[in-house]
Amino acid sequence: MPQLGLANLEYGLTPQIGLSTTRAGPIGPQMNRVTEGGLLKAPSCYKNKLACLLVARPKKWAAPLERARQSMSLLELRGISKHFGAIHALTDLTFSLEPGQVVGLMGDNGAGKSTLVKVIAGNFPPSHGKILIDGKPVHFSKPVDARAQGIEVVYQELALCNNLTAAANVFLGREPRIGFGPIRILDHATMYRRAGELFKQLKSETRPRDLVRQMSGGQRQAVAIARTRLSEARLVIMDEPTASISVRQVAEVLNLIKRLSEHGIAVILVSHRMPDVFDVAHRVVVMRRGRKVADKKTEASSAEEVTGLITGAIATA
Ligand SMILES: Nc1ncnc2c1ncn2[C@@H]1O[C@H](COP(=O)(O)OP(=O)(O)OP(=O)(O)O)[C@@H](O)[C@H]1O
Ligand SMILES: [Mg+2]
Repeated sequence: MPQLGLANLEYGLTPQIGLSTTRAGPIGPQMNRVTEGGLLKAPSCYKNKLACLLVARPKKWAAPLERARQSMSLLELRGISKHFGAIHALTDLTFSLEPGQVVGLMGDNGAGKSTLVKVIAGNFPPSHGKILIDGKPVHFSKPVDARAQGIEVVYQELALCNNLTAAANVFLGREPRIGFGPIRILDHATMYRRAGELFKQLKSETRPRDLVRQMSGGQRQAVAIARTRLSEARLVIMDEPTASISVRQVAEVLNLIKRLSEHGIAVILVSHRMPDVFDVAHRVVVMRRGRKVADKKTEASSAEEVTGLITGAIATA
């Protein structure tokens, strides 16, 4: 049976309100082209997929889309364990994530957060258990396999080139080129323009021509996040993005996370910072000694409870 993805559901639902779509394509929020004002023309969507990612959904769609979302998960982990010799870094972990959902992943040092991120990102396979994307089992043997499924990781060190501009970093490794035959040069104009559009979408003040080495921590995060937007990620995992930046920059990064969520992109936010998680996350997942000890809506929890869960004062919640 073919896998029914969210986009396909949207595709199927669209004719009910008399709007047209052109094809059922790759699953992802870019397929939704219903706007507040009516119809966004399909050809322009394909010319500029990023614009499609920004298309707002009318309020009357909220209920059916919500139901559609509830019936499928973007990512599901079933009984994941990871052993490094005698060390049980992850034990029988079950987890699911819906499009646009922000999950705060918390736990003390050594709880297994980064190991979990690495399993999802394809850095190493789990010792046991299954990973499912859109309900389909997947096997990641390297990060590029996860990336092909729309999973991008923004590591704490960000892996940016300090001596290059923001735009060059956004396009690193996939630079557009112009020219003829063997003579092809980098298309800087396109890179500056597209990077500018991405920063604008993210409501970041980062300028495409600025050198990364002159940027603040928050602006660097914006560059790293813009990279994930370029690759049309469906899930962005951020490992401690606000650990070493100023208060103002933290607010900027949290806003970026909200923007991603608004565009239907799911985010796993690994953080030790309670206020950040309670500000942006819909759910909080707490790990202790490789096990998940809580997975609940942030509004149903509290900083005190999460602290208790992290330390072990509260066994589970
Ligand atoms: N490559 C590895 N080889 C052996 N043990 C590992 C490896 N990676 C992680 N571990 C162990 O697995 C456990 C979980 O580590 P992990 O890095 O996932 O914790 P964490 O929750 O990310 O901690 P922190 O908050 O300090 O980043 C630890 O006991 C760690 O020593
Ligand atoms: Mg870690």
